Amino acid sequence: MKSALLSALRGTAGYVSGQELCEALGVSRTAVWKGMQKLKKEGYQIEAIPNKGYCLVESPDIIDPDELSSIRQTAWAGKKIVYFDVTDSTNIQAKRLAEEGAPHGTLVIAGRQEAGRGRRGRAWESPAQDGVFMTVLLRPDLKPKDASMLTLVAAMAVAKAVRQLYGLPAMIKWPNDVLLSGKKICGILTEMSAEIDSVNYLVTGIGINVSNRKFEGEVSQMATSILLEGGKRARRVELIEAVWEQYEKYYDLFMKKMDLSDIVEEYNGSLVNLGRQVRILDPKEPFVGAAEGITPKGELLVETGQGTRRVSSGEVSVRGLYGYV
Ligand code: BTN
Repeated sequence: MKSALLSALRGTAGYVSGQELCEALGVSRTAVWKGMQKLKKEGYQIEAIPNKGYCLVESPDIIDPDELSSIRQTAWAGKKIVYFDVTDSTNIQAKRLAEEGAPHGTLVIAGRQEAGRGRRGRAWESPAQDGVFMTVLLRPDLKPKDASMLTLVAAMAVAKAVRQLYGLPAMIKWPNDVLLSGKKICGILTEMSAEIDSVNYLVTGIGINVSNRKFEGEVSQMATSILLEGGKRARRVELIEAVWEQYEKYYDLFMKKMDLSDIVEEYNGSLVNLGRQVRILDPKEPFVGAAEGITPKGELLVETGQGTRRVSSGEVSVRGLYGYV
């Protein structure tokens, strides 16, 4: 009911009459009125004018699966949404759902995570209201060696969504951190279940700092939020929708060739490391060089002075010479 009501309200510029709503939803006038009262209680600002009807003036920043469904324009990402007010980690939940047979594109979203996970076993702070915490389940026909490229696909999607929605110059720190003003607003963690030569499923988890007003301690040097950079609160459902719309586009380009050749140029255009000196924290042999962009396989090309090296994302971390970037 809620999803249909919101769709109907958003479907018309201006007012939509009670009668039209009854017909569109196939319910009584009382049911429409009750639905409106419920929406208002949840923080939706709805104007009701006698003989004219209802108009949705403003929507609150709540993550509601019904609302997400009402604005969803993707083909498969988020066709099935599993929402938790609180959970341990959306990646953990997505893997559980995968084992239970959930379909490709299932999207797990949490209001808050109590055990949010970052790369390399780190924790991902996941306070309620402040962020987007979500994971998509993917069942592509893919070789395990190609899976890490999907993380770059996700980074592209987030950077593009943030640019388009808020006009903020989001950049990517290879392979998959999304930054504003040189500080991280988004981290991505892809995990997979695979046989030796084929992927069973993948989960790509995305954490975005949306409305954080400050970060404590060391993190404050490296992290920022859309609110801190853009000065405005972002509506998380809109951001979620925009990310998956972009994601499907880049994912299709990737799956057509099983590499990033159609994305390389755009990715390199967003690459914060491009032309900069980077320190490659290779556990075997750390080295320094100038980042020259990525290859269609998602490796970072680093000119060391003694030739160009290709760096794979699974093995190393990358830092600037004097800090995070
Ligand atoms: C990183 O270390 O940069 C990756 C962080 C990934 C965090 C996201 S939040 C949603 C999903 N669930 C998790 O537990 N982790 C990812």
